[in-house]
Amino acid sequence: MIRLEDLTKTFETPNGVVVAADKVNMEVPTGEICILLGPSGCGKTTALKMINRLIQPTSGKIYINGEDTSKLNDIEHRRKIGYVIQQIGLFPNMTIEENICVVPKLLGWDMKKARTRAAELLDLVGLDAKQFLKRYPKELSGGQQQRVGVIRALAADPPVMLMDEPFGAIDPINREIIQDEFLKMQAELKKTIMFVSHDIDEAVKMGDKVAIFRAGRIEQYDSPDQILAHPANPFVADFVGADRTLKRLRLVSAEEVADADAPVAARSAKVADLSQRLSSAGARIAVIIDSDHHPVGYVTLDEIAGATGSVAEFAHPLPATVPIRADLRAVVSEMFAHDTMWLACTDDTGRYAGVVSQPAVTAALRATYTDADAA
Ligand SMILES: Nc1ncnc2c1ncn2[C@@H]1O[C@H](COP(=O)(O)OP(=O)(O)OP(=O)(O)O)[C@@H](O)[C@H]1O
Ligand SMILES: [Mg+2]
Repeated sequence: MIRLEDLTKTFETPNGVVVAADKVNMEVPTGEICILLGPSGCGKTTALKMINRLIQPTSGKIYINGEDTSKLNDIEHRRKIGYVIQQIGLFPNMTIEENICVVPKLLGWDMKKARTRAAELLDLVGLDAKQFLKRYPKELSGGQQQRVGVIRALAADPPVMLMDEPFGAIDPINREIIQDEFLKMQAELKKTIMFVSHDIDEAVKMGDKVAIFRAGRIEQYDSPDQILAHPANPFVADFVGADRTLKRLRLVSAEEVADADAPVAARSAKVADLSQRLSSAGARIAVIIDSDHHPVGYVTLDEIAGATGSVAEFAHPLPATVPIRADLRAVVSEMFAHDTMWLACTDDTGRYAGVVSQPAVTAALRATYTDADAA
């Protein structure tokens, strides 16, 4: 756990005093990712540097796992912390392998163990160890260097990670990929992480909690959903953007709102039976499934009411299906693309897994508003 207590930093400059951190109080529980988010110059890097003792706080305290860090010496302190700096900062005269092994070497690790670890970590972030271990930083792209910066901080397996815009130099597509890789890694490693970002989308995706900073102060510290649903003030609302409701869609999976018991029918079923079944269930559509339980079409009650024949004769093709694991942003995007109020969902094997509808999506968004308002 990281706990900051009234952490303050003022810089004396020829033009007066700059307050880079103003009585910052916050707690990051063990194993969680906290995103420090805010405009340029609001004090994010200063906060990280104070935690890593690269900057001496003017006043206030930093506790790591309950221990007042001002009582530890720098070496003891930094051993517990992996730091990814904003400018990547690989040593240009060292190979990638040497760069990754810097801290393990300082800690007196056996070099064979350190080198094995370097190769494993490279593979973990999608860089072929054979190709990259012996190269120098200037022989890597900016994004590749940034990945090395991240794994260098992980090399000695510290419980705490401080990451200053770790994916800032990576293009949007690869950024999504490396964010996903990082989250997978975190699910196993469960580090306690302070992660600086400018980017609200990155914050919502990566953060268990998000702290929004302005001019050295925390304006709001909350879960991403709470920040999007209930911005504490106009500054936060403005910072997270007018599309904040759309951003919340990303935090909910189709599975959470899908109706898994929505009616289904086989192609050979009789429409007379089906219309009765739909009427008594209060449903207006049935998804047609094949013998392997794959969704293959649908029928509407309006069209089959009072009719005779088999379901196959009244079948419409499905405009699209969505994976049940998809987030609601992807689902709603498909709904708009196909001008439909509902979509059939599939599981990992392509089998029918329920129906997600626009009213269910809006209800889910409303539910969070109400829960929080009641609290
Ligand atoms: N050594 C220093 N001397 C004087 N002022 C400083 C010093 N370091 C930082 N500052 C000032 O402190 C404030 C916070 O800077 P900091 O680098 O923490 O911002 P940041 O939120 O990380 O910004 P960015 O998103 O641009 O990286 C800024 O106004 C900056 O100019
Ligand atoms: Mg910064």
